[in-house]
Amino acid sequence: MSKENPFLEIKENTLHFDRVNLLRSVAANFGTPTYVFSENIIKQNLLNLQTAFTSQYPQTEIAYSIKNNMIIDFSSIIADEINYFETTSLTELLLVEKLAQQKNKPLNLISTNLFKPDGLIEHIIDFGNQITREKKNLQMSGIIAIDSYQDMKNIERVAKNANKKAKVLVRVNPGIQMSREKTIFASAYPDAKCSTIIKDIQPIIDLSQNETIEEWLLKRKHSPKYDFAERIIQEAEKSEHLELLGIHGHLGSQVTNIDYFHHFFEVITLFYKLMEEKLGRNLSFLDLGGGYPVQYSIKECVPSIEEIAVSLSQKISQAKITPHLIIESGRFVTASSGLLLSKVTLTKENPSGGKIAVLDMSVYSDLLDVIAAKWNFDISLVNDLPERKDETKEYSWDLVGATNDTLDQLNPINYPDNPNIDQRSFPRDLKPNDYIVITNAGAYTTCFNSNYCGRPKPMIVLIEKDKNIRLINRNY
Ligand SMILES: Cc1ncc(COP(=O)(O)O)c(C=O)c1O
Repeated sequence: MSKENPFLEIKENTLHFDRVNLLRSVAANFGTPTYVFSENIIKQNLLNLQTAFTSQYPQTEIAYSIKNNMIIDFSSIIADEINYFETTSLTELLLVEKLAQQKNKPLNLISTNLFKPDGLIEHIIDFGNQITREKKNLQMSGIIAIDSYQDMKNIERVAKNANKKAKVLVRVNPGIQMSREKTIFASAYPDAKCSTIIKDIQPIIDLSQNETIEEWLLKRKHSPKYDFAERIIQEAEKSEHLELLGIHGHLGSQVTNIDYFHHFFEVITLFYKLMEEKLGRNLSFLDLGGGYPVQYSIKECVPSIEEIAVSLSQKISQAKITPHLIIESGRFVTASSGLLLSKVTLTKENPSGGKIAVLDMSVYSDLLDVIAAKWNFDISLVNDLPERKDETKEYSWDLVGATNDTLDQLNPINYPDNPNIDQRSFPRDLKPNDYIVITNAGAYTTCFNSNYCGRPKPMIVLIEKDKNIRLINRNY
């Protein structure tokens, strides 16, 4: 469903974000380009996510996926609300330990990367132990999602050397049919780089109540010898140094087709059931990864989080399983909580009669998904806003980044055919020292900032609950 952003409003002919005048309170004090984040929105998004899933299935934990935005101040806000974090590196793990210590609160961790160096595995197995030794009431656990057969063997070896048992989930690939073009970060099609495939799909087809399952659950072309979920699960179960807690799966990031969620939940819940039968015992955890979508543009339609949660609870009840559920999420929590404020440095004409506005930001550093994923972010004018949009006249502009690179443009370019050039329309003409904002810029943006072309990284500020605006220090 398409909806306007309730945190953006026009007052005194200027755009305000979460009650704050972007011109007077942000641009004038901090300069541009600057990311502006809102504590209220981060909390609201978390609450929406939590409520959607727990109202359908109460035994649900939300795990914040740190990598989309590695800023400790934001993780700190999030750690007040939830107990789990999803991490992919030692740096992220240490950040979670630091938060647990600062807040005197037990936090749990799920580590999911496809390769985990020995040092990282050791730390996950030992996660929180030092804190627990110091503060007996803080019981924390580190769980590892096994990604492949060799990954399992590495984890087992490190655990054996430490004379410990590693808590593990097995990350499973359902191998469903997904359009790679429409779902650019898809992760659940058969040849995906992460996780291991379910080899034998016939028992799932037999159990399913879905008549179309044979159309979208793809037949396996080859039989892997080691890298298939059933084998890894059975070996993990037998291992003296692994404690098998359950199953993990991840559909992809920013999945906008509700059918993919239906299919993914169907296969993974039935597989969970079948594995419980095979092992002769109940598993504890079903972790369904991230991917819960954000509406990037008011023209775009994405399934609501409530629709997704209903689909999941139906599949869980059809499969007759009772796991503790983990929902990992990054983008849904942070994307709409941040915007990027940028200034028009100068304007130019081009020989086709078009107009170019050169911004002080660069997509290479500040908004990488414009290039990497051909993302079409919504853009709004900030200053001197006409009181009412003049419907009869629109002013079209090409907005370009500050570097000389051709791809450094806010309209995604399909080089070399360029069929997609889509100019930006505003209700009045642009001039130097005008400001624009790119909305939904809070996820997978600041973590890619670089000094490309010798440009400084943008500032980051946080609008706190009391409207105070705090400059965020990137060091953690
Ligand atoms: C295993 C896993 N969990 C969670 C996420 C977070 O996804 P999102 O930020 O779309 O929620 C990712 C992202 O790729 C992932 O690979």
